[in-house]
Amino acid sequence: MMHDFEYLNRELYCESVRVRDIASRVGTPFYLYSYKTFTEHLMKLQKAFKLIDPLICYSMKANSNLAILRSLVKKGAGLDIVSGGELFRAREAGCDPSKIVYAGVGKTDSEMEQAIRAGILLFNVESLQELDRLERVTAKLKRRINVSLRINPDVDPGTHAHITTGKAETKFGLDLDTAHLAFMRKDKYPHLSICGVHVHIGSQIVKSEPFVKAFRKVLIFLTALEREGHRVKFLNLGGGLGIIYSDERPQTAEQFAKQILPLFQGRKYKVILEPGRFIAGNSGILVTRVIDTKQTKAKHFAIVDAGMNDLIRPALYGSHHEIWPVRQTRAAKKVIYDVVGPICESGDFLAKNRKVQELKANDLIAFASAGAYGFSMASNYNARPRAAEVLVRGSRFEVVRARETNQDLVRGERIPKWV
Ligand code: LLP
Repeated sequence: MMHDFEYLNRELYCESVRVRDIASRVGTPFYLYSYKTFTEHLMKLQKAFKLIDPLICYSMKANSNLAILRSLVKKGAGLDIVSGGELFRAREAGCDPSKIVYAGVGKTDSEMEQAIRAGILLFNVESLQELDRLERVTAKLKRRINVSLRINPDVDPGTHAHITTGKAETKFGLDLDTAHLAFMRKDKYPHLSICGVHVHIGSQIVKSEPFVKAFRKVLIFLTALEREGHRVKFLNLGGGLGIIYSDERPQTAEQFAKQILPLFQGRKYKVILEPGRFIAGNSGILVTRVIDTKQTKAKHFAIVDAGMNDLIRPALYGSHHEIWPVRQTRAAKKVIYDVVGPICESGDFLAKNRKVQELKANDLIAFASAGAYGFSMASNYNARPRAAEVLVRGSRFEVVRARETNQDLVRGERIPKWV
């Protein structure tokens, strides 16, 4: 089972709740998440990798709603963070800091300090310069911390250029020679215990081959390091597992594990995984209402009350999100629509040339697979309050983030006396 959104008598349900009923209570647009799908995806990975008992650090950039984080943390997940803000959220959600790993090419001194004080498990360091800086910050606090070096293995993951991270020309990680240098100079960093290696080559990767290729490179590197007497304790394999948006056939957790586990046989690393999209992607939808339809000489448009500020993936990556009418009509008539938002630019579309049932004003439609990088990438562009977020578990549902108000839009702004 890929997710828990289903039709019953032509009505879309999330678990046991009718989506239409939520819309009439909460208004539109809103993100809708299934607790069951979220937690089951985590459990699928836990099960597939049971043999090596990895620490699964959910990559919270995919969806960092506190209710979601708490649900996953309670099922044993740690968290992968990339900022001081995510550290704050992680702790608000009750995540044990000893299960937090911190990646990113631009951690500020202050963010480093917050994470050191919190006592996180590992920093994933992305350059020699960052290593020097982290040493200084840690020394100042009179602490000692664990560090993994993020390797850039120069492998093409075969995904969109914007989400490719493991090729040499990207800003991420250290090449193998530089990483080797860092291990050799370990004594230069008395407050850092360089005891791990991290690799994350990209996102929405549907085949195992790029992973295998990258991990093989890393393993050869690790063997060389160990031969020189360096001890490596943590091996972080990153995230990147692809999901189904339209007709992809991504590897399952089980297939992935089957490819990966044999590579590490006989090695005793504490393996860390950082999936984001795999857990969150199909666990959420974006529900929106048709404001108007519009027919021009060129096109049929359906203008909806969600825009690129709510879901930017189509505009930014040309991503495909399936359209699910919240109520399926009996009428056979289908129309090819561009589904667009109210924002004042042509990049503001959620779908293009999509054949769906004929739509009219007030109809509700949902965009599927919007649980990852949906709300978390939302903005207030065009002074649009961000959408509500709703979580369903069984027959219960709750607003887990209130729709923003106009007051929220101006929070923190001031008009100086001299203007
Ligand atoms: N670990 C690191 C270090 C990462 O940078 C990322 C994602 C992940 C783990 C999780 O990757 P996942 O399992 O979700 O593929 N906004 C884009 C995706 C950006 C991914 C950024 N890094 C999108 O909407 O497709």
